Amino acid sequence: MRFVILGSGRGSNAETLLREWKAGNLGQAEPVAIFSDKPEARILSLGHEFGVASRFIDPGPYKTKLTPATEADYVEAIRSTGAGLIVLAGFMRVLKSTFLDSFPRQIINLHPSLLPSFKGLNGIGQAFDYGVRITGCTVHYVTGDLDGGPIIDQTAVRIEKDDTLESLEEKIHAAEHKLLPEVVRRLAEETSA
Ligand code: GAR
Repeated sequence: MRFVILGSGRGSNAETLLREWKAGNLGQAEPVAIFSDKPEARILSLGHEFGVASRFIDPGPYKTKLTPATEADYVEAIRSTGAGLIVLAGFMRVLKSTFLDSFPRQIINLHPSLLPSFKGLNGIGQAFDYGVRITGCTVHYVTGDLDGGPIIDQTAVRIEKDDTLESLEEKIHAAEHKLLPEVVRRLAEETSA
């Protein structure tokens, strides 16, 4: 199963996916493109490093969403790759109907909390500030309900008394780096079964 990765930032999860793929640990899943809404995002340089096509796609004038026209640009770019799965790995924009209706149950998102708790931005900081003792990360299908689509899998992370926001971030990212490749591998296996 071919998949594309969309991200806006440092791309540590994209990097882990690409490393696991190179190591032969993604089974039937094959990354075919990386797209970003930020022209300078590190995630784009991973494409060169791992031999996967990568490019910036102009998101339009808004900060937190695309426009119907720029959603259509993303849809066209993704369709041209023949991908059957779209992995949002730190793609910090809310998707609307032009995008969502084009790929029903084919878009998954990684979120740094145990949903349905701490939706939206800064999931790690929200959980830390609230004082919960258990948080984690979630991979879920993307629907029009923000961070509310069906959950595929989760990993719990304990917040110890001596954790700082920084140490918690490290623990969550480590959990994400295990969870996301495992989910992608499993979805590809299920699709090809
Ligand atoms: C990850 O922690 C991911 O869970 C989060 O962005 C980070 C991307 O890191 N996503 C969200 O908060 C989505 N609401 P990365 O660029 O190093 O993979």
